[in-house]
Amino acid sequence: MLINIPVSVKQFREEYFEQKPFLIKNAVKKENLLSWKHINEILPRCNLISESKIKLMYQGNKLAKEAYLEQYDDLGTIRYKFHQESLYNFMRAGATLVANGIVNEPHLDIFCQEISSFLGCHTFASLYIAFNSERSFKNHWDSRDIFAIQMKGRKRWLIYKPTFPNPLYMHKSKEMPLYQCDTSEVYMDIMLEEGDVLYLPRGWWHDPIPVGEETVHLAIGIFPPYANNYLNWITKKVVDNEVARKSLHSFAQDEVLLEELAKVTSDSIKDRANYMRFLEEFYDSKRIESPLNLEIFANHKNTSLSEDTKIGFISKNHWHDKYQKIIANGYGIAIDEKFKPILEHLQQPSSIALPDLLNSIENEEDKQSILDLLWSLSYLGILKIQS
Ligand SMILES: [Fe+2]
Repeated sequence: MLINIPVSVKQFREEYFEQKPFLIKNAVKKENLLSWKHINEILPRCNLISESKIKLMYQGNKLAKEAYLEQYDDLGTIRYKFHQESLYNFMRAGATLVANGIVNEPHLDIFCQEISSFLGCHTFASLYIAFNSERSFKNHWDSRDIFAIQMKGRKRWLIYKPTFPNPLYMHKSKEMPLYQCDTSEVYMDIMLEEGDVLYLPRGWWHDPIPVGEETVHLAIGIFPPYANNYLNWITKKVVDNEVARKSLHSFAQDEVLLEELAKVTSDSIKDRANYMRFLEEFYDSKRIESPLNLEIFANHKNTSLSEDTKIGFISKNHWHDKYQKIIANGYGIAIDEKFKPILEHLQQPSSIALPDLLNSIENEEDKQSILDLLWSLSYLGILKIQS
């Protein structure tokens, strides 16, 4: 395991998840943290011109792209690069560089995959880089739970209890003056050091303060299905009932209609089949980014995995339902009951060698069926393989 989380998923869900912050000191070994080489290489590969992907925050505001990017014509293609002198100048003066939604960066993806495997949900990765002791962010809360992994240096975090618990994407702390932070009572005043991990539920106020030295942290946001997602899904289904398609006139006139509407909506929400279908669609819409294996799967001469292959799920953010089905990467794959123990093995954090996976299977026909299944799941990019 890359991240040492000292509690079980069950314990985490019961004691911390959506309830309170959890600080794990020395959760990642120093040698496994991102190096400056990785960080320096990842940044220029991000979508620099996207407003939401790369931000340079200075004195509480987002700087305009022209302040630190330059556009150039590369044989007829317009490209963008960091204007290094400007970027360095702003950061020397205290700016924080933020890269959001980083994907396909193997050194960073492995952290996301571990969090994803731990909680079984999708993730969103952001890097925050600063020097100096300037505050680039005001006290705020985020609308997604995060795991902050301190990769370089230190950062002080002042944390306060939520005034609007469990906000969603449409909620922004700066746009909700009615829910001011009570700064008189600090819940946690911590120094996040290299290798430390902080779980911070959404809605918890935080004031991350650089302490006059380098600081890089990776924030991994998590995206489980929320009740709100289910509610939105249900409202689309409810229009199958005529009552949801009628016009409204006045409250007095529509009272009976509203009663009926409330009943069909409530019945739909509580319907187990709807709940299961919603989850299936929720996971079906997600995609997992992973490296290609062209040398194996794009070569028409290969039809099976070689003996020395190591295999495992990329992450646990796919979904198995009670009907023996894997929903991942837009595929729904039916799984025979007898393969369930194999799938459980594959859920382990580290990849498993093919012979070890198969050694408990005696029946040759079953062995072949499992090999076929593993080939298919790898071909579809659901399993990751190492030769
Ligand atoms: Fe934040």
